[in-house]
Amino acid sequence: MGKILITGGLGYIGSHTIVELYNNKYEVVIIDNLYNSKEEVHKTLETIVNKKISFYKGDVRDKELLRKIFKENNISGVIHFAGLKAVGESCEIPLEYYNNNIYSTLVLLEAMKEYNVKRIVFSSSATVYGLCKEVPLKETAPLDATNPYGRTKLYIEGILKDLYASDNSWEIAILRYFNPVGAHKSGLIGERPNGIPNNLVPYIAEVAAGIRPYVRVFGNDYDTKDGTGVRDYIHVSDLAYGHVLAIDKLSKVHGLLIYNLGTGNGYSVLDVIKAFEKASNLEIPYKICDRRPGDIAASYADPTKAYNELGFKAKYGIEEMMEDQWRFQEHIYIK
Ligand code: NAD
Ligand code: WQD
Repeated sequence: MGKILITGGLGYIGSHTIVELYNNKYEVVIIDNLYNSKEEVHKTLETIVNKKISFYKGDVRDKELLRKIFKENNISGVIHFAGLKAVGESCEIPLEYYNNNIYSTLVLLEAMKEYNVKRIVFSSSATVYGLCKEVPLKETAPLDATNPYGRTKLYIEGILKDLYASDNSWEIAILRYFNPVGAHKSGLIGERPNGIPNNLVPYIAEVAAGIRPYVRVFGNDYDTKDGTGVRDYIHVSDLAYGHVLAIDKLSKVHGLLIYNLGTGNGYSVLDVIKAFEKASNLEIPYKICDRRPGDIAASYADPTKAYNELGFKAKYGIEEMMEDQWRFQEHIYIK
C-alpha cells in the first residue's frame, strides 16, 4: 500500500487526520507552506504516532515540487486540505483565495494525472449549502455560495465533477465538513488562530483564558430554540476519522462520492457557551450583539449517507468537544 499525500497536513484538520491515518496503519507524506501552521507540528505528530513522517516545506502550486514528491514517494492517494479558509478575509482579498484554493487544486490534479494517482479526498464545507433553510441538510440540497471562500469550494467541487465525467477511473470523495471543534486528546495539537478568532469556539476559549472580556453573541432573534444561531459542531478527531473511512472506501470503489461530515445535532451559541462553562469549570461572560452579516439561523447535517455508506458516526458529544478544546488552549495560554 502506498503512502497518502496530505496537503496542508500541518494545519488543524490535516494534523488530526494524520494521527487517525497512522492509527489505522496508513503512512503519509506532508506538503505544507506553513502559511497558517507551525513547523513544530511536524515533530509533535512524529511524537504522537511514534514514527518518522516525510515533510516537504512548500506550496501546492509549485508543480516541480509536486513532481519531486511523486517521484520520491510511492503515493497511492491524496487528501487535499491546503487552502485559505476565512470567510471575512475572502471578501477582502478574493484574488488570493481564488489563486490559493483553485489554482493549487488544478496544479495538484495535473500532477496526480501525470503520475497516474487518481484517488483524492477533498475538503469541502457545509458553506456550499449557502442560505439553504431546509435543515437537516442532505447532500442533495441545492448548492450556492455567498462569499468568495464558499465559491472556491463550490468551483472546486465542479472541477472534480467535470474531471470524473471526463475519466471515470478517478476515485474522488468530496467531504462537506460542518463545524469542526475540539482537539486531540493528548492536548498536543489543536487549532491556533492568529489574531482575533472568527469562529465561536476558539473565541470562547480566549474569553475563558482571560484574553478577551466576553463572548459577542451575534444575534438572539433568529428562529431557533433560544434565538441564537444553531450549528452542527463535530469533534475534529471524529471528522479526521471520516477521512480514513473515505480513503478506505475509495480503495474499493471507483466513483465520485459526496458526504456530509457532521453529527446531525444542532447546538445554539448559548448551548455551546454552557457546555464550555461545564467543561472548564469557569464562568464565560457574554453579551448579545447584532447579527453577523451573512450568518444563517441554523445549519446541521443529515449524516445518514455517511453512516450508511462509510459507517461514519461521530463518537464525541458537545461537552467532550469543549473539554478537549480547553485542554489544548489551556496548554497554550496558561503555562
Ligand atoms: P488550516 O489553515 O489549519 O490548515 C490548512 C493548511 O494548509 C495550513 O497548514 C496552511 O499552512 C496550509 N496551506 C495553505 N495554503 C497552502 C498552499 N498553497 N500550499 C501548501 N500549504 C498550504 O485549516 P483547516 O481548518 O485545517 O482546514 C483544512 C481544510 O478544510 C481547508 O481546505 C478548509 O477550507 C476546509 N474546511 C475547514 C473548516 C473549518 O472550520 N476549519 C470547515 C470546512 C472546511
Ligand atoms: C458559529 C455560530 C455565529 C463567533 C464558519 C464558516 C464555514 C466553516 C466553519 C470553513 C454562528 C456565532 C460566532 C462569535 C458568535 N468554515 N458566533 N460569536 O459561521 O457556522 O461557519 O466556520 O469552511 O464556512 O462560515 O462558524 O464558529 O463562525 O459561528 O455568536 O464570536 O456562532 O453567529 O451562529 P460558522 P462560526
